[in-house]
Amino acid sequence: MSRVALISGITGQDGSYLSELLLDKGYTVHGIKRRSSSFNTDRIDRIDVHPRNADARLFLHYSDLSDPASLTNLIRDIRPDEVYNLGAQSHVRVSFDIPGYTAGITGLGALHMLESTRAANVGARFYQASSSEMFGATPPPQREETPFHPRSPYACAKVYAYWSAVNYRESWGMYCTNGILFNHESPRRSENFVTRKITRAVARIEAGIQDKLYLGNLDAVRDWGYAPEYVEAMWLSLQQDRPDDYVVATGEGHTVREFVEAAFAHVGLDWREYVMIDPRYFRPAEVDALIGDYTKARRTLGWAPKTLFGDLVRIMVDADRQLLEDERMGRLVRIDR
Ligand code: NAP
Ligand code: GDD
Repeated sequence: MSRVALISGITGQDGSYLSELLLDKGYTVHGIKRRSSSFNTDRIDRIDVHPRNADARLFLHYSDLSDPASLTNLIRDIRPDEVYNLGAQSHVRVSFDIPGYTAGITGLGALHMLESTRAANVGARFYQASSSEMFGATPPPQREETPFHPRSPYACAKVYAYWSAVNYRESWGMYCTNGILFNHESPRRSENFVTRKITRAVARIEAGIQDKLYLGNLDAVRDWGYAPEYVEAMWLSLQQDRPDDYVVATGEGHTVREFVEAAFAHVGLDWREYVMIDPRYFRPAEVDALIGDYTKARRTLGWAPKTLFGDLVRIMVDADRQLLEDERMGRLVRIDR
């Protein structure tokens, strides 16, 4: 019998890579998609076989992290072995504009998923997508024991979700694991996170269809890894004898300025001629530096990053150049190939 997984956030960057990983491992994958007035399944269209097809092993269901009854019904029907809670309002800057909504989806939504999983009583293992943002103002290197000091409504909501997962483990004996993931990127990253905003702009500037790139704080330091490798750590964290919490990172920090410089240099351009600062992109409170210590993940899960900063920048810039070329040639456009 194939194992069964349920993923909230399946239409996002990580959800799409995780679905591919689980399908490759022979799982049947169920995903929660929310109602949207426009298509929101671009990232998984390549693997979505119509359910009427006998080979179908990926199934999408309308539900929402704000609707606990629908989550409970779904988990009861599907009877998953593993639940991955990746759904969130995941944009830090936006969380300052919609703090209540962010708390509801990113924080309380995780509680709804936990409680629905408990109520279904099917023994499912639970993965919570926790974030390095929870460390916030606490200086690097950050590891599992590092105190949290969240700096945004998003980070506060993630701290709530983190402790809820720990609490369900301690109260109900559920197998709940937090992956404390540092920033991870890919050609499927949404265009409003800084890496993709930069690589997309570089491709467009090189092609002559964009003049300038407006950014905020260039001094922030982030530990950027490659998303397809990070979803492997998620899966591994649910295959252990006992539940636990893991930092997943590369251990390398780089400034936004270094990312910009490397991305423009990859196409032979000098970033200083194109990048402008727009204070609109500054945050009311910034997280200055995140650099993770992934020793525990390496020891326990046998996980280590393979793609580091320079390769990540090149992969993303080249994917955005290819995307533009495909559009220009009228070819079928995929977010990445
Ligand atoms: P993402 O691309 O922004 O995807 C978020 C997913 O959540 C999307 O599928 C989105 O659906 C879904 N979602 C939003 N609101 C929802 C709601 N009310 N009900 C159900 N689903 C909802 O994020 P990601 O980069 O894949 O990250 C996955 C998870 O890891 C998130 O929880 C994020 O906070 C966390 N995380 C990410 C990173 C990172 O660097 N990427 C690092 C640490 C933690 P739509 O497609 O319809 O918008
Ligand atoms: N988005 C954005 N846009 N960020 C900018 C810009 C800009 O124009 N200019 C500078 N930055 C800076 C931000 O101030 C921040 O310090 C850094 O670039 C990274 O911003 P994001 O790419 O938006 O990511 P994030 O670090 O705030 O959050 C991401 O990583 C977290 C894990 O640490 C998200 O994926 C979160 O969901 C995730 O939890």
